[in-house]
Amino acid sequence: MQTGRPSRTAMSSAHARAAHQTADSPRVFADPLAARILPAAAGPGRPAGGTPHGMPAEVRLFMALRHRVAEDALLAAARTRQVVILGAGLDTFAYRNRNPALRVFEVDLPATQVWKRERLAAAGIDVPDTVVFCPADFAEQTAESALVAAGFDRAAPAFFLLLGVAPYLEREALLDTARFVAGLPAPAELVFDYNQPAAALPPHRRPALAAQAEAMARMGEPWRSFFTPPEIAAELADAGFGSIVDVGWRDCVTRYDLDPALPDLFGGRIVHARTTHDERSQ
Ligand SMILES: C[S@@+](CC[C@H](N)C(=O)[O-])C[C@H]1O[C@@H](n2cnc3c(N)ncnc32)[C@H](O)[C@@H]1O
Repeated sequence: MQTGRPSRTAMSSAHARAAHQTADSPRVFADPLAARILPAAAGPGRPAGGTPHGMPAEVRLFMALRHRVAEDALLAAARTRQVVILGAGLDTFAYRNRNPALRVFEVDLPATQVWKRERLAAAGIDVPDTVVFCPADFAEQTAESALVAAGFDRAAPAFFLLLGVAPYLEREALLDTARFVAGLPAPAELVFDYNQPAAALPPHRRPALAAQAEAMARMGEPWRSFFTPPEIAAELADAGFGSIVDVGWRDCVTRYDLDPALPDLFGGRIVHARTTHDERSQ
């Protein structure tokens, strides 16, 4: 990450979601604000109508899928009163949300958040009163301290999204966040995606993983953490989560009726972890 500059990977993910609206069939994640929040002028590496940085279609689709999985889970978490979007980038959930009882905390590095607020204003996207901007660097302070300072209520049910962020964090920073969420006294859920180490993938998938990692490093935001599914399950259980659902590409193909011929390019996975306070059974 270049200090004081907006995240380039946040821009890249937002481009992927915008391109997904028209380029992929079926569209798995509907986001009418995805294109609006982007700068109108084609920036470096932004080909007209496509996804920048030579991103393969399957990577773009995975970026849309992680939002679909997260927002499906969020919709099902009926008692949630607080949504926390960690490393929010240009995520638009807060501006599509029509539930006035849901507070949405957006946490991101200060420079990226300033840029996002400029983009929202320039695009004429209203910022509802339910949105709380919470600038923070997870490498410097825990998500907890930043959130509590911004008015997060530890005693109210909360849903956390950490999409496209875990790979950029050191392992302990991610696990600290998981422990914070799992340790909350009220029901809490967390959805995040992660990458597996090359050694955990079949050899034919490793070049795609390496290419994606190199593309991110070239943007100044190298991937720092990798986990196998058994490691994630063990770490999240240790943190205190009682329910852990970890889906890969094939699970998503089945769940969302995608073309079974689409290859799993780089083995990315999406986890939905819930604490043992099961709000659906209360
Ligand atoms: C790939 S982008 C994903 C953005 C958004 N979640 C999405 O899916 O489009 C990664 C985001 O994580 C944020 N981020 C990375 N490291 C961070 C840190 N140490 N503290 C806070 N935010 C961080 C970046 O600023 C960026 O917005």
